Amino acid sequence: MPELQRDFSLREHNTFGLPAMARFAVAVRDEDDLRAALALPEGQGLPRLVLGGGSNLVLTRDFDGLVLKMAIQGRACIAQSTDAWLVEAGAGQTWHDFVAWTLEMGWPGLENLALVPGTVGAAPIQNIGAYGLEVAERFAYLRALDTASGEFVALDAAACRFGYRDSLFKQQPGRYIVTRVTFRLPRPWQPVTGYADVSRTLAERAVATPAPRDIFDAVVDIRRRKLPDPADIGNAGSFFKNPVVDAATFAALRARFPDIVGYAQPSGAWKVAAGWMIDQCGWRGRTMGQAGVHERQALVLINRGGATGADVVALSRAIQASVAERFGVTLEPEPVML
Ligand code: EPU
Repeated sequence: MPELQRDFSLREHNTFGLPAMARFAVAVRDEDDLRAALALPEGQGLPRLVLGGGSNLVLTRDFDGLVLKMAIQGRACIAQSTDAWLVEAGAGQTWHDFVAWTLEMGWPGLENLALVPGTVGAAPIQNIGAYGLEVAERFAYLRALDTASGEFVALDAAACRFGYRDSLFKQQPGRYIVTRVTFRLPRPWQPVTGYADVSRTLAERAVATPAPRDIFDAVVDIRRRKLPDPADIGNAGSFFKNPVVDAATFAALRARFPDIVGYAQPSGAWKVAAGWMIDQCGWRGRTMGQAGVHERQALVLINRGGATGADVVALSRAIQASVAERFGVTLEPEPVML
């Protein structure tokens, strides 16, 4: 039976380091714990917060509900064939450690997603993506508790409805609680080196034929150069999604701002680099209250020490207003606001 904690401080459980208390919290170490946690009399009728690494969360108030701290461990290669390895991991595994382990074991394919903060269970929720790869492209299926039926279900990629930083789990918040994720790592391994920062870093290192480890090392290096480590500076990664606009809107933007950074999408739409727009509005490195904009990547808001959720929200609204005024584009926050 998992132990119920009362008046649980969330400050150490969100990478922004924002202060907030939860009425109840419980650690979930296996699926039995999960069932037991959901049956706790104290939690009945209260909202629930499923917490992984807390790396995609902005806490703006205390949480009068039950926090489920997902701590399910375990990882294994459960099948292999000539065209793929199937590797499974518990939702509570730290994402980066899992990625590093798959490489050590000789099952490459996740190296572009090195150093993404958070847990395995959170990866499919927002379909984490970086340096030319989205987790949807390496996903086989997951196991989750469907809180509507009380049954555990297996959901494949189609059922998960992955999109850019989007999935079924964002569309139906609270319905499914992910317990295990199985990845499909295709064989033979093919490097993903199309992202400018990655190809540039490999070229600088004179790596002509990259091995998985070379890409892993390049991504780790790029992230360390550009992105703040939450262990040193509180943050939740990219604070806004890169907005997707139609071709005509992008053409009009490019006519006015010839240096604008955008990526053509298969649909014909364009994904615009929000970091570039925020930077152009002069926000990079600025501070408001105790919150700030990272010096090396304007898409990342940071806690300069002692920030509250209100500081972060005020800063994010000011940035949204600037970008809307200058570019006519609406920025949508990426983390979950609570
Ligand atoms: N840029 C600027 N100024 C800035 C920031 C960016 O001019 O302050 C320009 C860059 O020079 C570049 C472009 O904007 O030309 C894009 O920047 P970058 O390559 O750093 O990537 P991003 O689009 O800002 C996205 C993801 C990141 C991911 C990187 C690399 C989103 C919301 N963010 O950022 O994901 O690591 O690409 O693939 O899609 C996260 O989600 O938390 C995250 C860090």
